[in-house]
Amino acid sequence: MHNERTFQYDGENAARSRGELEDDTVIITKMQEVRVGVIGLGNVGMGTLAVLAENAEQITQKLGFPLRVSTVCSRSVESKKLPEALGPVRKTSDWREVVSHPEVDVVAELVGGTSVASEIISGAITHKKSVVTANKELMATCGSEIWDRAIRAGINLAMEASVAGGIPIHAVLREGISGDRVVALYGILNGTSNYILTEMEERGATLDEVLTEAQRLGYAESDPSADIDGLDARSKLAILAALAFGEKITPADIYVEGIRRISPMDFRYAHQLGHTIRLLCGARQTPDGLILSVRPALIGLKTIISGVKGAYNAVWVKGRFGEDTFYYGRGAGPLPTGVAVASDLMRVAREIRYGHPERVSPFAHERLGEYKPLLVTREKCPYYLRFRVEDRPGILATLAGILAEQHISLEAVLQLPNETKHDLPFVITLEPSYEHAVREAVEKMSNLEFLREPPLALPMEPPL
Ligand SMILES: NC(=O)c1ccc[n+]([C@@H]2O[C@H](COP(=O)([O-])OP(=O)(O)OC[C@H]3O[C@@H](n4cnc5c(N)ncnc54)[C@H](OP(=O)(O)O)[C@@H]3O)[C@@H](O)[C@H]2O)c1
Repeated sequence: MHNERTFQYDGENAARSRGELEDDTVIITKMQEVRVGVIGLGNVGMGTLAVLAENAEQITQKLGFPLRVSTVCSRSVESKKLPEALGPVRKTSDWREVVSHPEVDVVAELVGGTSVASEIISGAITHKKSVVTANKELMATCGSEIWDRAIRAGINLAMEASVAGGIPIHAVLREGISGDRVVALYGILNGTSNYILTEMEERGATLDEVLTEAQRLGYAESDPSADIDGLDARSKLAILAALAFGEKITPADIYVEGIRRISPMDFRYAHQLGHTIRLLCGARQTPDGLILSVRPALIGLKTIISGVKGAYNAVWVKGRFGEDTFYYGRGAGPLPTGVAVASDLMRVAREIRYGHPERVSPFAHERLGEYKPLLVTREKCPYYLRFRVEDRPGILATLAGILAEQHISLEAVLQLPNETKHDLPFVITLEPSYEHAVREAVEKMSNLEFLREPPLALPMEPPL
């Protein structure tokens, strides 16, 4: 009589060469494939299909079983050209068919937004199917609740693609450095605004000029608000801060200010001061709680994060024990994001085949007082104040007087050569000051009749 063994992992020959199988052992089953239903065939959906099709062989070898796309869905599914290497795939325009179909083990929600996407994820959870999503908007606002439901249903939820597409930052925070205690996290998390700022910096072009060009090339949406007003970056920071600090953080906890007021002149002044300007996402632990912000900031030219240019993203994390780590890569795009989705699908598929580990939500598993979000007005750091004035005597004395009333000390005054006296720019840098005091001073200055526009106040981040 033969031995009967189920071959599960790295192949019959490998097992025989390790002496794990008797010569007469008969292999009776190969590990079953895991079947994926993809909902949403836009940039990310099609990128994911391309990765799964072109890299199918490697993915099978890494998993020990195939990951097969069994069903795809989008409103205009019939017009989509799928990669041939996927083989036969069921097509539907009704997402309900995907989440309920018995031949779908994992659902990839790649639709976006908060309405249909939320129904899709709920439907998948109801049918006890694990979910992979790229949806930052939904996970930033309701991630904690969705996770709780997923845990109760005993299924998994993976969302690597929701922040910084090509950078595996979720895996880093949940696994790679999970033994550390994060004290600060900074990121450049919106590729479009970073592209606009670096083009302004390098070419001296205005924001409007670069934005129009970016829209023509398809790098920026026709409504650019989510990118340049910092809202997209804010959703991403909400997710990362929740993962890093184990706290329930929503976008409303985060101070946000976009890049609309930044001009090429600000880069000239920033360079003189040894800095550049980036839309910086920050989550920093203080003795009283967390300070969270998305805002343009001056960052030192010698810091690693100042070298993040164009549409790239980066995340810098400081741990109490492991100190600094830095992660860099493409923040978006069909293929980098497709890799993140495919890798999440592999992680979930492994769990389905090899068993479900006990799960803890990455959001707010325990509310720790020390991480309570604080108002950004409690921030204390040096500031850059940029003015445009109608030149006349006594301007500096007036401004210095207002700053002194708020107990703010001036550090330096900087004026680059300028031809016109009617619109004269100059900059005052401040010693470390509280944000609330700086805001009050700026408010008082805004009514001065020699100002061409309200002063622009930007924090100067300490060296990262
Ligand atoms: N683009 C990126 O680089 C990137 C990076 C990271 C994360 N993300 C996130 O990934 C998600 C998808 O983004 P995307 O850029 O791929 O969006 P997209 O190009 O607009 O694609 C959305 C897809 O969803 C489909 N869809 C919309 N409503 C549907 C419904 N009711 N039923 C079925 N299908 C529906 C659309 O169908 P039709 O094609 O038929 O209209 C389209 O195929 C978003 O959450 C986004 O934030 C995107």
